[in-house]
Amino acid sequence: MKFISVPAPLVYAGAGSSSALMQAIGNFGHQRVLVVTDKMLVELGLVKQVTASLAEQGIDTVIYDGVLPDPDFGQVNAGIASCKQNRCDAVLAIGGGSALDAAKVIAICSGSDQEPANIVGYFNVKSRGLPIYCVPTTAGTGSEATMVSVVTDAQAETKCFIVDPKLVPDAVALDADLMLKLPAPITAATGMDALTHAIESALSREASEDTLRKSLAAARIIFQNLESAVADGGNRSAREAMALASYYAGSAFTIANVGYVHGMAHQLGALCHLPHGLANALFLPHVLDFYRDTCAPQMARISKSAGIGSANDSDDILAEKLVERVKELSQAIGIPTHADVLKPDQVATIAARAMKESHGLYGYPVPKYMRGEECEAIVRKILPVGE
Ligand SMILES: NC(=O)c1ccc[n+]([C@@H]2O[C@H](COP(=O)([O-])OP(=O)(O)OC[C@H]3O[C@@H](n4cnc5c(N)ncnc54)[C@H](O)[C@@H]3O)[C@@H](O)[C@H]2O)c1
Ligand SMILES: [Fe+2]
Repeated sequence: MKFISVPAPLVYAGAGSSSALMQAIGNFGHQRVLVVTDKMLVELGLVKQVTASLAEQGIDTVIYDGVLPDPDFGQVNAGIASCKQNRCDAVLAIGGGSALDAAKVIAICSGSDQEPANIVGYFNVKSRGLPIYCVPTTAGTGSEATMVSVVTDAQAETKCFIVDPKLVPDAVALDADLMLKLPAPITAATGMDALTHAIESALSREASEDTLRKSLAAARIIFQNLESAVADGGNRSAREAMALASYYAGSAFTIANVGYVHGMAHQLGALCHLPHGLANALFLPHVLDFYRDTCAPQMARISKSAGIGSANDSDDILAEKLVERVKELSQAIGIPTHADVLKPDQVATIAARAMKESHGLYGYPVPKYMRGEECEAIVRKILPVGE
């Protein structure tokens, strides 16, 4: 991704910033907005809380709440049909990465003659589509900052990637007030997704000074705040910190990319239907352990920035302490160490697909090359105890 220019969205940050974004949508002259979300967020009243001020400005809203976790093409196509039928002139996503990812594709395809299935892959989006605005309600995927959308092919049980700078949202609000009721297990898993973005982008061979600054900031903030956000969901300052960290990590990885943890987690998530953040959290310590012998200086940089270890520690020790700190955090926030749903006969498929994703034409700029058998050994480590 080194030679691609990736735009950044206009960002409104801080408690209540979703109101400022709604005001901006009015200022930009939109008349009818498709709101892409899920039923849970409608039931919780979050969608109404955010969109009420659109009605006050005389802007119509059409709600599409058919998004489920890890949205598939059927859900995206239903959103496009609703958007076209109602002649909406902008798309507003309210939700986690699933709602944001679905909304990005809905916006592109509703405002042009492109079909979702035809824009899968890298740089296949021909025109921009409708303006897209995002209000994330989880602090994890960073999708509000990225040129990526992940759509599941339900039949093939795989995740498809649509990657193009035209997918970067126009404007976003990082409003932690909407995250105060996010349940602890989802806070934990999504927070570990953000940590994985921060660490994998920091270790990327394509990291730049700018992405590294954001990756390190994100990792430091997450190590300092995730446990508090999980323990006390109403802790506003921890929630605000996590929302910002997730955005920083998204801004970093959309340029520097991710690595083997995501390569494996995507397969585990698609085959075993595990939440994306949880799948990352299961693999993260094992992949870091694999990197340790050759990547100690880069890993030590993360430790030093996050205040892990002491000033006299060697890079090798700091790298080891990073792995321990990740394990300690996972344990503290209730992340399991094994995937109960994983079956021994799925290990080879997950490893083979992970290698294909990580080493393909648009593979990941990982800091150390992994062989297929090494990947299988890591996947085997998270099998249920006794398998
Ligand atoms: N586009 C990207 O750059 C990118 C990056 C990483 C992951 N992803 C994708 O994002 C998806 C995962 O997104 P996610 O981890 O944010 O989870 P999610 O969007 O699937 O949401 C998980 C659950 O949390 C609930 N929820 C969300 N916000 C809530 C709130 N404030 N209060 C109560 N409940 C709430 C939702 O209703 C849902 O049931 C996956 O499909 C993954 O592949 C995309
Ligand atoms: Fe991720």
